[in-house]
Amino acid sequence: MVALRSAEKCGVLGLISRDGAAAAPVEVMGLKFPNRVGLAAGLDKDGDTIDALGRLGFGCVEIGTFTPRPQGGNPQPRVFRLIPHEAIINRMGFNNPGIDAGVANVRKSKTYRGIVGINIGKNKDTPNENAADDFLACLRQAYPVAGYIAVNLSSPNTPGLRDLQGAEASARLLDILKTEQLKLAAEHGKHVPLVFKVAPDLDDAHIRDLARVFLDGGLDGLIATNTTLDRAAVLDHPRADEAGGLSGRPLLQKSNEVLRAFASHLGGRIPIIGVGGISSPEDAREKIQAGAALVQIYTAFIYHGPKLVRDLARLLPLVVLTCLCGNALL
Ligand SMILES: Cc1cc2nc3c(=O)[nH]c(=O)nc-3n(C[C@H](O)[C@H](O)[C@H](O)COP(=O)(O)O)c2cc1C
Repeated sequence: MVALRSAEKCGVLGLISRDGAAAAPVEVMGLKFPNRVGLAAGLDKDGDTIDALGRLGFGCVEIGTFTPRPQGGNPQPRVFRLIPHEAIINRMGFNNPGIDAGVANVRKSKTYRGIVGINIGKNKDTPNENAADDFLACLRQAYPVAGYIAVNLSSPNTPGLRDLQGAEASARLLDILKTEQLKLAAEHGKHVPLVFKVAPDLDDAHIRDLARVFLDGGLDGLIATNTTLDRAAVLDHPRADEAGGLSGRPLLQKSNEVLRAFASHLGGRIPIIGVGGISSPEDAREKIQAGAALVQIYTAFIYHGPKLVRDLARLLPLVVLTCLCGNALL
């Protein structure tokens, strides 16, 4: 990230990425995305690398997760590469400079023309009874500068956070946040979409109940999915037992199943951003076919670098076309 920022500052990134990603704009949640490929939350945790990441071709950069107060996250080591599986286990624990610093960083970004999503969470020491206050504080701060706001209910690394994904708890939270969104829309004269990010570790009944909550509550968008606690696909690896969330290739199928289930319950009424395990255009095609309107990557960007961003952005318009025709050419 330091190298990226330096390369951007001295103009090198602008030169080497001049061809950028193919422009194939798409409108989702009322926002115009320059292409369908976004960077998932958790890489630009501070939001201070937006311009450089934009140069690499991302149509959307989701920054954070931010909490109301800054926090250091879990002790290191807290990120592990499972190289043969092209996977990562992380237990970062929302290390971040706090929402105010995040918003200040967004204001400093100069050249990026894509969509900036701001991902928000709760501080580790905030009890779940008061979680809504943390989300509200972040929502208010982020609203003026965000393209959309992603409410993270699904990190496995903040104790108790995933309990907020219960149907009742998420209905209550959605109601509180939508009420505030309405007020903020009037105050700022713009509607900033509110998106929930869910875990892949949900069973069918839970997905059905959540989908009902999201439809009834008027959620603007859904991000499926975060990392998984399931280790079935990497049991042979010596790091498999590390605590945290697993991402990358081994997550693809599980994440797709959850995406497909949400898509079938939501019936196209709430757009879905598909994330989890994409490491090739073929994987992205599966996400689109499963019901995603946009995709995001994280782990495969670590393993494959910027070329993957450009390949995905270039090929996805074709993928969508072939999906619409019901004929997968890829
Ligand atoms: C090191 C690391 C840190 C992450 N931090 C966050 C985070 O702060 N907030 C969040 O919503 N997701 C976070 N994620 C999850 C990713 O945004 C993404 O949902 C997940 O990794 C699945 O996508 P992938 O298989 O393409 O990596 C993190 C993932 C990794 C690998």
